[in-house]
Amino acid sequence: MNKNEDRRQKTPLDRFGIWFNSKLPFFYSNWVTTLGSLMAVVAVLLLLVALFMHIFLTFVDRPSNPYVDLIGFMVLPMLLIGGLLLVFLGAWINRRRKDKGERGTVAIEIGGPEFRRKVFISAVVGVVTLVLLSSFSYEAYHFTDSAEFCTNICHAVMEPEGVAYERSPHANVPCVKCHIGPGADWFVRAKLSGLRQVVAVVRDSYSRPIPAPVENLRPARETCEACHWPEKLHGSKMILREHFESDRDNTPSVTTLMVKVGGLHSPGLPSSGVHWHVDPRNEVRYRVLDHARQDIVEVIQKTEDGEVRYLREGADPESTEGEWRVMDCIDCHNRPTHIFEVPGQALDKAFLAGELDANIPWLRREAERALREVEPNHDTAGTIAAFLTDVYTDEHAEDLDALRSELSETATVLTDILERNVFPEMGIGWGTYASHLQHMDIDGEMADTGCFRCHDEEHVSEDGRYISQDCDQCHILMTEREEDMDALPDFVPVFLTRP
Ligand code: HEC
Ligand code: HEC
Ligand code: HEC
Ligand code: HEC
Ligand code: HEC
Repeated sequence: MNKNEDRRQKTPLDRFGIWFNSKLPFFYSNWVTTLGSLMAVVAVLLLLVALFMHIFLTFVDRPSNPYVDLIGFMVLPMLLIGGLLLVFLGAWINRRRKDKGERGTVAIEIGGPEFRRKVFISAVVGVVTLVLLSSFSYEAYHFTDSAEFCTNICHAVMEPEGVAYERSPHANVPCVKCHIGPGADWFVRAKLSGLRQVVAVVRDSYSRPIPAPVENLRPARETCEACHWPEKLHGSKMILREHFESDRDNTPSVTTLMVKVGGLHSPGLPSSGVHWHVDPRNEVRYRVLDHARQDIVEVIQKTEDGEVRYLREGADPESTEGEWRVMDCIDCHNRPTHIFEVPGQALDKAFLAGELDANIPWLRREAERALREVEPNHDTAGTIAAFLTDVYTDEHAEDLDALRSELSETATVLTDILERNVFPEMGIGWGTYASHLQHMDIDGEMADTGCFRCHDEEHVSEDGRYISQDCDQCHILMTEREEDMDALPDFVPVFLTRP
């Protein structure tokens, strides 16, 4: 032993290292290695605990806590990997010292007891590490892909999307199926952008609301079409909407439309109807001026017969301002799962489900006012109840008793509607995330939204044709807010609309 090493032995960590070395010679007596092996041992022990806990929770069918999972599946394996890296680093340092002759080499007899012990220990450590790391990285991979990871870890940020998702037809489709899709390149891109998002959350620098459309969404045709292949989209779909009018009686009414869903019936035939846009043989691309993709100035329709260019009346034909985009599923289905309601729609559903009492005069109208005026707060139900009581006292005094008899139930239902659609801390109000799958504004009036961004009879081709607004091209309107139930065509099945 030379002087250098003598000095180093003075630190307690070194002395511990020497002791450790005498017990477990595999770990060189070098403090880097010692620290690394300690980290690795602790990580392995904790990982075993986490593994048993995970098995136990699965066994008793209890959901695990996402924060515990975050530590179990991500922090501990990183600790283990870090520890092992230190072990190797220490070994490498030792090796260099030996090469420089700073330290005597310990001759090990191949096949001797020392050698066998080292091989045995290396093998055991290696196997345990491999098993733990592979099973945990598998879990970690799935964990970062789970809906809980997305919504709970960044709770406040993703809450609105999570809440809307829970109530949607895709509630059982994991977030990553739409946001990432299969393939390594998108996986890396998504995890990198995920990292950026985590940084933004930690620094509290993310935008509220989260801007839509999402820039880095994988092309919808690769995600949506994994489950909804175009040949599956065909025929027509009858949609029956039961409304309640804003009069004293909350009069029920029915809108019935036959939507020409259309699509690609069978490969050789021409496609028709709404899904004509996404027939792979066609392409509709558009130039849009704003980020929200509302302000569409130019549309190019490409079919097997050639291209037609539609320009919005008054637009400069030479201009190239804005961005081009090829239309896909998301240009219509921009809210397949984060479905935010408009007040009228949400109320109609609540009346239909019997949650709100249509016998309370004026309730449809005043409830809508309450939804628009009240913001969620620590006592939303109380605020709504007070708001309704004031309105009825001032404007419908004769119906105040009817309201009072069910005030608290009414306030609870309205609170639920409000809190699943309006999130002040994320800057989300009514209409922030409007659906393109229609042509109405949030008051239920016809507007230049959704389909009518193009189908507005204002986009004209060189030969004078317009992108059509002919109602029948998209749907056959059989009844429109028809209040007289007896006047409905026989084949319209109305189940519930009875006050
Ligand atoms: C069925 C497909 C689908 C699933 C499942 C899905 N999303 Fe989305 N998500 C979308 C689409 C489409 C958009 C909107 C894209 C646009 O407007 O350009 C979106 C947008 C978002 C946005 C941006 C804000 C907004 O509302 O537009 C966030 C945040 C988000 N999703 C989070 C999630 C989380 C968290 C989950 C899982 C709990 C999830 N998504 C599951 C399809 C999906
Ligand atoms: C992992 C499979 C999967 C993916 C990916 C997926 N969906 Fe779905 N989708 C479903 C299932 C399952 C349903 C529910 C069918 C039902 O309720 O009858 C559904 C239902 C729908 C419906 C009908 C909703 C309704 O109200 O009846 C639409 C529209 C839809 N999906 C569009 C999309 C779009 C657009 C995308 C891409 C952003 C997408 N889906 C991605 C599986 C998927
Ligand atoms: C031009 C707009 C538009 C585009 C583009 C579009 N859809 Fe649709 N889709 C509609 C409309 C409108 C409906 C019927 C209305 C409804 O279901 O509420 C519909 C209905 C559906 C349905 C439900 C069908 C049913 O019978 O219930 C599915 C699933 C669907 N679309 C998937 C897709 C997929 C996948 C894509 C992309 C390949 C796509 N859509 C592209 C407008 C569009
Ligand atoms: C980006 C522009 C754009 C948007 C948005 C758009 N369309 Fe179209 N659509 C077109 C163009 C271009 C055509 C072909 C010209 C025409 O038929 O008027 C077309 C044609 C159609 C056709 C006739 C297809 C056939 O059989 O030939 C239907 C039906 C249709 N669109 C429905 C819709 C519906 C429903 C929506 C909204 C959910 C919608 N479109 C949104 C551009 C658009
Ligand atoms: C480019 C296609 C397109 C054209 C043109 C069009 N609509 Fe629609 N319309 C839709 C779609 C898509 C919906 C939404 C269906 C749904 O709610 O799922 C809709 C829904 C409606 C509704 C039902 C609203 C509700 O929920 O009660 C009415 C009413 C309506 N349209 C009237 C009209 C009238 C009137 C015209 C003619 C001036 C017209 N539409 C032209 C695509 C179109």
